[in-house]
Amino acid sequence: MIDRRTVLASTFALAACDRFASAEPAPVAIPPLKSACPAPFGAAVKAYLLDDPDWVALARTQVSQLTPEWEMKMEYVLADGLKRPNFDRSDRIAAFAAANGMALHGHALIWYAQGEQAFAGLSGAAFDRAFDGYIASVAGRYRGRARGWDVVNEPILDDGSGLRDCHWSARYGHDGYILRAFEKAREADPEAVLFLNEYNQESIPAKGAQFLRLVERLLKAGCPLTGLGLQSHLWIDVEEGAIARLMGEVAGFGLPLHVSELDCTLRTDKRLDLRSQSERIARQTARVTELAAAFAALPEAQRYAFTVWGLRDTDSWYRQGEKDDGKDKPLPFDSFGRPNPMAAALVQGFGA
Ligand code: G3I
Repeated sequence: MIDRRTVLASTFALAACDRFASAEPAPVAIPPLKSACPAPFGAAVKAYLLDDPDWVALARTQVSQLTPEWEMKMEYVLADGLKRPNFDRSDRIAAFAAANGMALHGHALIWYAQGEQAFAGLSGAAFDRAFDGYIASVAGRYRGRARGWDVVNEPILDDGSGLRDCHWSARYGHDGYILRAFEKAREADPEAVLFLNEYNQESIPAKGAQFLRLVERLLKAGCPLTGLGLQSHLWIDVEEGAIARLMGEVAGFGLPLHVSELDCTLRTDKRLDLRSQSERIARQTARVTELAAAFAALPEAQRYAFTVWGLRDTDSWYRQGEKDDGKDKPLPFDSFGRPNPMAAALVQGFGA
């Protein structure tokens, strides 16, 4: 999960530059992204969006796959405890996807950031039963409907120095909980593509290297890991070429890749960033084009899907609550559903 303090701090930097903000770029004309993309084009979705006719119309035009943004995670499923799982919203999203000819990507079974409260007080065999049972019940429920799963999300420390300590590693060890989760997910769904999903591999070299080492170790151990997720929460100041280089290194394992959570905030962690909105958008365009082109250059068998972490700027987690500066444009469409420069960058990168 990305450090919210960084996002908040950079909000003030951006606000300080408000007087430099240039006029908003005119909306661009683009083909549907699901047509331009050389693989299923996905978007994150929250259940309430299914009641927003504008979002539904945009999704039907632009996307061919959905990822539940939060309501298929323990945070929502186990909000009432292990004995009373909530599947109402994830079922609703799955039904909407099926009714609209969209694929479904499951997110996320085991994450360091969630589940500690629900599993509190459990130890030994009881913990094992709950861990195994949770994966069996959730992955089993969507068997034949979810084409893939983020089985383990974000196991690596932000600085890339090692793997995170968490309630899962405390019981099974750092690699152990990952191996167990994948084995249980494979038992629950023999067909789904099973992903290890991580962020900042492209922007923090040590984290990218740690990701590659972890994947190599898991595969050598016989882990049923069959897909690799590059979340791609991009920063506009990532060094040119780093995104493509990282994707090439990860592609070396020969597994399907999922650009799983693309957004690209215009905010930075520079204490005082005097660049105009248009300068930032130009850098965003360059990085998003590089990502889309690197994905399009993969062999077809390795292009699982390309997913944006929301469709409209105001659907983004970057634009929620007190963090919202009202100006960030991290997603392909503006709040009215009109294409942003990011949408043009995607089409350009896909080579459509
Ligand atoms: O909708 C409810 C609202 O009714 C309620 O009043 C409010 C306060 O409880 O919560 C709202 O739900 C929030 C939800 O986002 C929708 O905005 C949840 O509390 C909040 O925890 C949830 O955050 C999500 C976060 O993961 C944690 O699950 C973000 O939307 C989602 O964008 C973010 O996504 C993560 C990926 O799973 C993993 N990679 C990083 C990515 C960004 O952090």
